[in-house]
Amino acid sequence: MTSPREVRVIGIGTGSPAHVTGQAIAALRECDVFLVADKGEAKDELVAVRRAICEQFLDDRTYRIVTVTDPERGPDAERDKAAYTVGVDAWHAARADRYGEIIESLPAGETVGFLVWGDPAFYDSTIRIVDAVARRLPLRTQVIAGLSAIQVLAAEHGIVLNGIGQPVHITTGRRLLDEWSVDLGTVVVMLDGSLRCRELVEQAPDLTIYWGAYLGLPQQVLRQGRLADVIDEIVAVRAALRQEQGWVMDTYALTPPSPGDA
Ligand SMILES: C[S@@+](CC[C@H](N)C(=O)[O-])C[C@H]1O[C@@H](n2cnc3c(N)ncnc32)[C@H](O)[C@@H]1O
Repeated sequence: MTSPREVRVIGIGTGSPAHVTGQAIAALRECDVFLVADKGEAKDELVAVRRAICEQFLDDRTYRIVTVTDPERGPDAERDKAAYTVGVDAWHAARADRYGEIIESLPAGETVGFLVWGDPAFYDSTIRIVDAVARRLPLRTQVIAGLSAIQVLAAEHGIVLNGIGQPVHITTGRRLLDEWSVDLGTVVVMLDGSLRCRELVEQAPDLTIYWGAYLGLPQQVLRQGRLADVIDEIVAVRAALRQEQGWVMDTYALTPPSPGDA
């Protein structure tokens, strides 16, 4: 019987080599080949960051990087909830097939690494895809935690996300308006290309927004303030950055006023 293929799913932080932990470096050194998804030109910089991390921490003859073209993904923003879930499932299956074929074609005994942006536990499908590949061929997988955009956002703003003894809720722009209530405590929003929090201004103008784009990268931009006061500026800054750089990734936290502020 063939022994299972070793796989490392490595959280690399949000772009700064200083985010790469000692545990991640040790795991990088165990890998012979890294599979990196190629998501199209706009995000080439994210592939370049992964390459730079390998170059910084590894000798160049010890590893190879294989870019894997992502299967076509449907128009998520235009889909309702059910169609979105079906679309994402089909996309994950296509990705798992593609990765499975590549992994199977590698020489026996080689260890495969996935360089995961941020932390693999937050809005990243790598663990699910590797689990799906493991249903097709034998794998032994180890996951290494990384710094998430959530943690970097809080650190760069110098804040604690939760109020004392209060919850933190993490969600997406797509779900924000349906879910938001003051009882959620701080709400962290990822994957929001439309800054949906703008639609909360009437209902909750006194929320504080802590916003960060390109967190951990040299072009990092931060803004904070009372939602009603700063949201228009953040919308304008985000649009200008997207125009200039061709892409933008941002995360924000919305915190309710503490009872003492009322
Ligand atoms: C597919 S999710 C990946 C999250 C990642 N696993 C993490 O732990 O940060 C992508 C979303 O993460 C957030 N994000 C990732 N990197 C970021 C960065 N450098 N600056 C701001 N937000 C970032 C954005 O909300 C983006 O839409």
